[in-house]
Amino acid sequence: MSFHQKILNWFDKHGRHDLPWQINPSPYRVWISEIMLQQTQVTTVIPYFQRFLQRFPDIAALALAPLDAVLDLWTGLGYYSRARNCHKTAILIHSQYQGNVPADLELLLALPGIGRSTAGAILALSFQKQYSILDGNVKRVLCRYFAVEGWPGIPAVTQRLWAFSDLLTPKKRVHHYTQAMMDLGATLCKRSKPNCPSCPLKHSCKAYQDNTVKAYPTTKPKKDKPLKKLIFIMLTNQKGQVLLQQRPSTGIWGGLWSFPECELQAPTALRGWVKETFNYSVTHLTPLEPFRHCFTHLHLDIYPIQIGIKTAKRVITANHYWHSIKMPLNRGVSAPIKRLLEILENRLDAETQNRVK
Ligand code: ADE
Repeated sequence: MSFHQKILNWFDKHGRHDLPWQINPSPYRVWISEIMLQQTQVTTVIPYFQRFLQRFPDIAALALAPLDAVLDLWTGLGYYSRARNCHKTAILIHSQYQGNVPADLELLLALPGIGRSTAGAILALSFQKQYSILDGNVKRVLCRYFAVEGWPGIPAVTQRLWAFSDLLTPKKRVHHYTQAMMDLGATLCKRSKPNCPSCPLKHSCKAYQDNTVKAYPTTKPKKDKPLKKLIFIMLTNQKGQVLLQQRPSTGIWGGLWSFPECELQAPTALRGWVKETFNYSVTHLTPLEPFRHCFTHLHLDIYPIQIGIKTAKRVITANHYWHSIKMPLNRGVSAPIKRLLEILENRLDAETQNRVK
């Protein structure tokens, strides 16, 4: 039996058939789901996908929405350049292709955020065209099946894997085959504890036959991540507001709303920093619990400090605003900022209660 036949038979019995993006797999729905799934688990993506589609049911709705509304719905999902690229791409598709996702590899590759594998997934899953994919799941299956040596991030290794993927992808039922390969990687051919006895490929999988499944894919050569330490300045005024600042559009948490930040220094020096930077007089400083946030390329140690100030001039510049802590935010923030805002809300509640007592 051919490779794809084994995969399709397995898919009919054991594959996933009711993921939200499989129901009415329109090019728009498949595109958004593929972007969300790029670095994020299926179970995490599902509620985000559903909220996103409810708020932006089609390309026009997404193209016409402000970027902040898009980032807001992405809050907590991470890798926010994905959200910015989705917005840019929606605007391009809306203005250049009458709101229709192009069914053409080259045109898809020209759109922000769409690489070869995502383009292949859109063409296969939605348009049922014979294009291959090579996401993390498929890479793992192929590395093991063909016992491919070398870290898949090396261009020569990636190229070999693409050649295998192209060779194996069938014309018939290409949408089922594509979903099946991702499902096989996610449910059986897992990174740790793969379930080889249940795999439809076990009789021809080179790594399984050689009892070397654990050795594939070859891992990335390790490099220590740099560590950065930052103070988050949580300026609060007497009206129950906190100062938020929009981050530059590039770099970490690009375009999201955050607290002003400064390099690590003694809490006493911060009074001077606040006076110099914002011209506010400090009433009290309360360090909150520090925590670490890990990115793929960096560890960030965050030292949040709540700093009370006397007066609150309304806005300092266009990218600052005083957020009333009890009001809905409706702006994109990173997961740590969201958590800190909740902590701050509880603290301000407690402070008010103490004053009432
Ligand atoms: N990962 C990437 N694309 C996926 C999909 N369509 N279904 C499940 N997991 C995926």
